[in-house]
Amino acid sequence: MHAAAFAWAGLRGEYRAQRVEPAALPAQIAALRRPGVLGANLSLPHKEAALPLLDALSDAARRIGAVNTVIHRGGQLSGDNTDAPGLLRALEDAGVGAQEGAVVVLGAGGAARAAVYAALTGLGREVYVVNRTPQRAQALAAAWVRPQGAALVRAVDVEGVPWEQVGLVINASSAGLGAPEESPLPDFDFGRLPAGAGVYDMVYQPHETRLLRDVRSAGRRGENGLGMLAHQARLAFAAWTGLEVPPQVFLGALHEKLD
Ligand code: ATR
Repeated sequence: MHAAAFAWAGLRGEYRAQRVEPAALPAQIAALRRPGVLGANLSLPHKEAALPLLDALSDAARRIGAVNTVIHRGGQLSGDNTDAPGLLRALEDAGVGAQEGAVVVLGAGGAARAAVYAALTGLGREVYVVNRTPQRAQALAAAWVRPQGAALVRAVDVEGVPWEQVGLVINASSAGLGAPEESPLPDFDFGRLPAGAGVYDMVYQPHETRLLRDVRSAGRRGENGLGMLAHQARLAFAAWTGLEVPPQVFLGALHEKLD
């Protein structure tokens, strides 16, 4: 995607994949301060481990507790999280979740924290978190208690969700990732959702998971994670270069590689 964006912008930039062992992370982060380096993307487990190694953090990175984008300027490194705004843009593009109503987040890892942050700050909706291991959902929800003690995010089991009041379900679990028949909600009747409700599955490989198939066969809207992947990259590229490259450039590169 970034190679396509550099080409579109007529820049001689290079985006390289690099394997970094956890012990080497501080040295690799320090190396980003070299002149000519625009920044980096981080994947697990570095997304979380990099936080104390950076000079500044965006609100999103701090609240989510994960950095997917490091931006270098004049020797200073700042950490951002473009997953949350990328998700919001992808939802808007797909017209999924435009319906009023609560948001259900499936999963309780870093991806789920980004989804909760997006739902609260971008959509301003009530959030229910459902996770295979309930204790992790409870820990996630506890981080969002207002000083006055009001819960913004509730950890519940599947039957604790008021499904008839839900506008959007986000799969932020890794169920279905590389395993098309695995679903975070196996045997769930998505007909319990209001007719206009939608489901966003962050999984993009395979393009159609069992979750999305179940959603669509119940007549509800479902969208895979390709849009979020493209938008988080587009936003990172904009932070590094100051250039707004059209989303189609990133999506086109993804389809070329993954279809
Ligand atoms: P990330 O930070 O990328 O979100 P993670 O911390 O490994 O990654 O989280 C993966 C999430 O997917 C977890 O919520 C996990 O549930 P557990 O907390 O019970 O481990 C969830 N998950 C993974 N496989 C799943 C499956 N087959 N069914 C339901 N949830 C699953």
